[in-house]
Amino acid sequence: MSNRYEITNIRALEILDSRGNPTLQVEVITGGGTGLGKVPSGASTGEHEAVALRDGDETRYAGKGVLMAINNVENVLRKPLLGLDCREQQQIDGLLCALDGTSNKSRLGANALLGVSLAVAAAAACCNGQPLYQYLRSQERYVMPVPMMNIINGAKHAGNQLAIQEFHIMPIGFDDFLEALRAGVETYHILKKVLLKKYGASSVNIGDEGGFAPPMTESREALNVILTSIEEAGYTPRKEIALAIDAAASEFFAANRYSIDGHQWTPRELSDYYLTLCEEYPLVSIEDPFSENDFDSFADLTRKVGGSVQIVGDDLFVSNPERIQRGIEIGAGNALLLKVNQIGTLTEAIQAADLAATNNFGVVVSHRSGETEDTFIADLAVALSFGQIKTGAPARSDRTAKYNRLIEIHHELGSDAMFAGKDFRFPSMH
Ligand code: PGA
Ligand code: ZN
Repeated sequence: MSNRYEITNIRALEILDSRGNPTLQVEVITGGGTGLGKVPSGASTGEHEAVALRDGDETRYAGKGVLMAINNVENVLRKPLLGLDCREQQQIDGLLCALDGTSNKSRLGANALLGVSLAVAAAAACCNGQPLYQYLRSQERYVMPVPMMNIINGAKHAGNQLAIQEFHIMPIGFDDFLEALRAGVETYHILKKVLLKKYGASSVNIGDEGGFAPPMTESREALNVILTSIEEAGYTPRKEIALAIDAAASEFFAANRYSIDGHQWTPRELSDYYLTLCEEYPLVSIEDPFSENDFDSFADLTRKVGGSVQIVGDDLFVSNPERIQRGIEIGAGNALLLKVNQIGTLTEAIQAADLAATNNFGVVVSHRSGETEDTFIADLAVALSFGQIKTGAPARSDRTAKYNRLIEIHHELGSDAMFAGKDFRFPSMH
């Protein structure tokens, strides 16, 4: 008779993500339960990310099918994992990496590996009869994360002229997660009214992450309407609701110039622009302010505003411990955007987060622009308790699934959970 934790089968399906592109759902079956893992996908992907395998067969899904990755799950990864204990996450993830054998997971596909890795964790939690956040818990106290809510979408996630990809609100000045979320959601709805009045009906069409995609051309237009909306919703900017941006600057960088807001700027000029925006607006976090290989400009900006503003590396670090280590050494950024599919296994993602946190970097657990209904990252954010989650606007089920899961967790934890609030960068010092 097999032990309840023993992996008895692994299967995979080609399912759809929130953009209607194929992705993987992996099922890990054990004697004591089954775990599912669904794989997200980026649009503004970093060049150093682990590589998702796509079929390239133009007769299916314009080449984006994932049947090869599915074949790798069922015919390459399955057999060596059969009989293993699903609680041995590190051992299993190590084996997945070894079976792939490349540094960027391009042989079997980071999507294949991640689907298995996430499903193994979900199966183990199920066997234990524990919620996932409890099974993955790594801190003494649970901290509910401040949501970074992307309410205006630009660049690759929208059909407008905004160079900056994401304009967020962060409801920090509240006692608990529910109050913070409500304030963010109310602001989102007021923003819709403000946009309708000022820019007309087409301005409230929404982008990939559920934020509005108004026909704006300049960053300040977006920041201004958000500020107005916070006030009209009855909240105090900065004190209760702060602003954050993800420039995703690699997307508007070419020939050592940044094309933004009608300018062609050098890294130094762009840096000065961010400093001005930090003076004009209650900005507390800037993600990917420069292109993905420009560690020096990240370090320069971090030196100038890092005390009061979080400088987050997404495409810069790609959740990769080697790149994070380099950032730590030269002070390039002071926070990590953690995306499990950038690195390809859960163990490596947790190692990346721990490396960042032990070096006084903030950690933001993050979705991708192409998501599924899977809520793994909501549980992961609470398990790690590093204080922040980025999972889009409070609209579209792929985004609200994560918020709804956090609402459930909030109620389950009751008074055991504290809300990161204003200490979102370093909640352990709460
Ligand atoms: P992506 O965007 O998932 O399209 O890469 C998200 C981000 O840049 O943070
Ligand atoms: Zn980003």
